[in-house]
Amino acid sequence: MSALITQLLRESRSFPPPKLFQSQAFLNDESVYQSLWTRAKDLPEQFWQEQAQALLDWETPWTRVLEEPTPHNYRWFVGAKLNAAWNCLDRHLKTRGDKIAIYWEGEPGDRKTFTYTELHEEVCRFANVLEGLKVQAGDIVTLYLPLLPELVIAMLACARIGATHNVVFAGFSAQALQDRINNCGSKIVLTADGGFRKGKALPLKRVVDEALVAAPSVERVIVLMRAGVPIKMEAGRDLWWHQLTAAADLRHTAQAFPSEHPLFLLYTSGSTGKPKGIVHGTGGYMVGVTLSTQYVFDLKEDDILWCTADAGWITGHSYSIYGPLSNGASVFLYEGAPNQPHWGRFWHLIEKYRISILYTAPTAIRSFMREGQTWPEQYDLSSLRLLGSVGEPINPEAWMWYHTIIGKERCPIVDTWWQTETGSIMMTTLPGCMASKPGSAAKPFFGIVPAVVDEKGQAVPPEQGGYLVIKQAWPSMMLGIYGEPKRHHELYWSKIPNVYFTGDGARQDKDGYFWIMGRVDDVINVSGHRLSTMEIESALVSYEAIAEAAVVGKKDELRGEVIACFVTLKSGRRTEKNFNEDLKQHVVRQIGSLARPHEIHIVALLPKTRSGKIMRRLLRAMANGEKIQGDLSTLEDLASLELAYPENE
Ligand code: WT7
Repeated sequence: MSALITQLLRESRSFPPPKLFQSQAFLNDESVYQSLWTRAKDLPEQFWQEQAQALLDWETPWTRVLEEPTPHNYRWFVGAKLNAAWNCLDRHLKTRGDKIAIYWEGEPGDRKTFTYTELHEEVCRFANVLEGLKVQAGDIVTLYLPLLPELVIAMLACARIGATHNVVFAGFSAQALQDRINNCGSKIVLTADGGFRKGKALPLKRVVDEALVAAPSVERVIVLMRAGVPIKMEAGRDLWWHQLTAAADLRHTAQAFPSEHPLFLLYTSGSTGKPKGIVHGTGGYMVGVTLSTQYVFDLKEDDILWCTADAGWITGHSYSIYGPLSNGASVFLYEGAPNQPHWGRFWHLIEKYRISILYTAPTAIRSFMREGQTWPEQYDLSSLRLLGSVGEPINPEAWMWYHTIIGKERCPIVDTWWQTETGSIMMTTLPGCMASKPGSAAKPFFGIVPAVVDEKGQAVPPEQGGYLVIKQAWPSMMLGIYGEPKRHHELYWSKIPNVYFTGDGARQDKDGYFWIMGRVDDVINVSGHRLSTMEIESALVSYEAIAEAAVVGKKDELRGEVIACFVTLKSGRRTEKNFNEDLKQHVVRQIGSLARPHEIHIVALLPKTRSGKIMRRLLRAMANGEKIQGDLSTLEDLASLELAYPENE
């Protein structure tokens, strides 16, 4: 049998947990991980029941831990009731009332902090505002706001009253916002006059006005004054946030809701297709994020955790808000861009707030590498004790930079693999008890049973690429796709019999470590060999001058497909005479002649989604001389399309 995906990359470095870190970690022995993981796999209901009891406050206990009323619709902690906001706030008031829950800094440099007591008051106040406007449990509230404390307050206020929040990243266009509102029939939108991003004030309210021209379900818009952008208030529809909160009581009693009650909806389209409204429940989701935050980040009482993702993505929901606050932790939030006013901003923030855990994305790390290490070197990063990565496979080159330049070889790196759909981290390095291998998302978290299989669901041997699937239900799995039960079934539960299909390719090495090879839709077929884009891209960016790379298949009569590469250069680099040939040879040296690039296009920008994922679908169309079609609403920067258009070699 020919391999489903041929393995090219061979990364043999391995870094044991730093001794000092290990000595204080919750879990500091791999055998403890092994026995807990095995127990969770063999006795999942018992394991999760114990976790649920230990981790959260429940108003009513469950009658069943897990049910599957129709095939592949799993319901966790059936019969139980709880309130997510209570678990993030009220239950900490006695022991942590004066502890800072949120440190926040705006892009222009303004600052705010909220203790648990203060955050609780603001959430209660806003819960009263929403109830005053007749928002009820089950209503969908759309939030189109910058990363401000008010966004977190509004999300938790929704949770408190059982309204389902639908955060739309405040960089999306009016059309994208309109589509999302219309898909779920939301009645109320929360926004701001504007928000600061890259030194400019984005006119958010104006975008909302444009979206609402054709969004008939919306009755109310609440507007926060943030950036001083002139706006029009529509009488009878629009209300000022500050007027509503000034009049609202700051006492509010939280009611409990069923464990399967939808906590939020979050649209994801990734790099392909029409957006899907991923629905997450309450009990299972909270169990998953609370447990994973504690163990993956080895979270301690005095940590300050900075997850750099916007709250418009699942990463922000789970690891800036619900997971940390449920654990009573302190989080840091930053409104703006990493290069405002200069490329030292992140490092300055770490120094200033003494941040101890940094969780960011490979695309951000590569941007920092592109700008050079003199930026981080100017700041004191000694408060950091753990680093995390999420969003795509981290290429070993970026991993090493993160490890040496940012972590000073002192901080373990957790490479966390998961999805909007999975709700919480599924695979990761556990920092005190297993070695990190640069580029590998290591091992499954407790209760997660992944496998690498072929189309029929048969396991493929170690070191061979295949489809990554999950074989057992886990608590934070999505409830479904909003209004599209058939699509839920088709996309995730029908391609491979009886398992959750992730859409990713992966291989497992001899030590049981998983290596994610990217989306299976992106695999390139050269002369019958199926090659992972991630591995070729990783080889390209290990070439000194290259900052970022994306590869796609270009149709070829002889070979099926050939490899087309799009690369950007590091700041200040120019190409030498034999650049293309040298780079091709470099790739051959790194991973073999099978992966020799056919063509290389040096471009100024790569088309990415707003969450930083390369839109290979667009590059594929370009490389093949096809028209670009389909949804472009998630594209970060339209200019990248023009700039990335290939010139003939
Ligand atoms: C897809 C999910 C969940 C966090 C943000 C992205 C890719 C995510 C990793 C990682 C390799 C990764 C996968 C996955 N991905 N993390 N650590 N290593 N690949 O959420 O937009 O739902 O995307 O991101 O391809 O399926 P998302």
